[in-house]
Amino acid sequence: MRDDVKELSFPDSGLKVWRCDTEAAVDMAAADLAEEVIRSKPAGKAGPVLGVATGSTPEGLYAELVRRHREQGLSFANVTSFNLDEYLGLYPGHDQSYRYFMVHQLFMHVDIKYENTFVPSGLEWNMEKHVQEYEELIRAKGGIDLQVLGIGGNAHIGFNEPGSAKDSRTRVVALEESTREANSRFFDNDISKVPTHAISMGVATVLEAKKVILMAKGEGKADAVAKSVKGPATPHVPASLLQGHPDCIFILDPGAASLLE
Ligand code: GLP
Repeated sequence: MRDDVKELSFPDSGLKVWRCDTEAAVDMAAADLAEEVIRSKPAGKAGPVLGVATGSTPEGLYAELVRRHREQGLSFANVTSFNLDEYLGLYPGHDQSYRYFMVHQLFMHVDIKYENTFVPSGLEWNMEKHVQEYEELIRAKGGIDLQVLGIGGNAHIGFNEPGSAKDSRTRVVALEESTREANSRFFDNDISKVPTHAISMGVATVLEAKKVILMAKGEGKADAVAKSVKGPATPHVPASLLQGHPDCIFILDPGAASLLE
């Protein structure tokens, strides 16, 4: 454990909760775990599979992984990635699509093979088939070794909004008004430009990952984090459903942890 990270104890939740001294410590702690998974599966064997998230929270993690690639030779040549979600109706080159985000934050800066990066497509004509194939592909690659998550102010994970069932799978979801409002900052502060729907891995898809890390930063996430860790596991608070996972770590900065202590 790093010096700037302290483990808090919430035994009833089954979750591990790490309070980091700074935002940068959140990024470093998450990068350490990602690096461990990447290095645990060397070339020649079935490669590591990362589940990746978008949003502002994991940007520092990706920057740190890029740094480790450049300065310490951390290779992604054997890595497969699956994104959690994607907006419906945005083409991959749209600067707010999650494919675009991943290319610019991570993929183009490391040696990952583009054909091993999977992001749900928001433009399929047969969505039912597409979402099923996405699930099948995750299984065919051996499942997700490490799933990275952020958390919405309403405790959504991916785009699993409140009400998402524990057994939900990759599917098309309607976005809550509050989520579209929060994300309008990336769309010229114009909520009418924010897509109304998205494709998201389901809660069950996320729970099948061997290891899950949920990163959260800032007081704006404190309430969602506290409900997820201390409250009952309920679909009303999607991140609380992680309580059933055998290896899930919440990695928090002081703001996000502020209602826990
Ligand atoms: C988005 C994403 C989530 C993300 C969340 C928080 O809507 N679909 O995966 O965790 O919002 O975003 P941010 O990290 O920018 O607060």
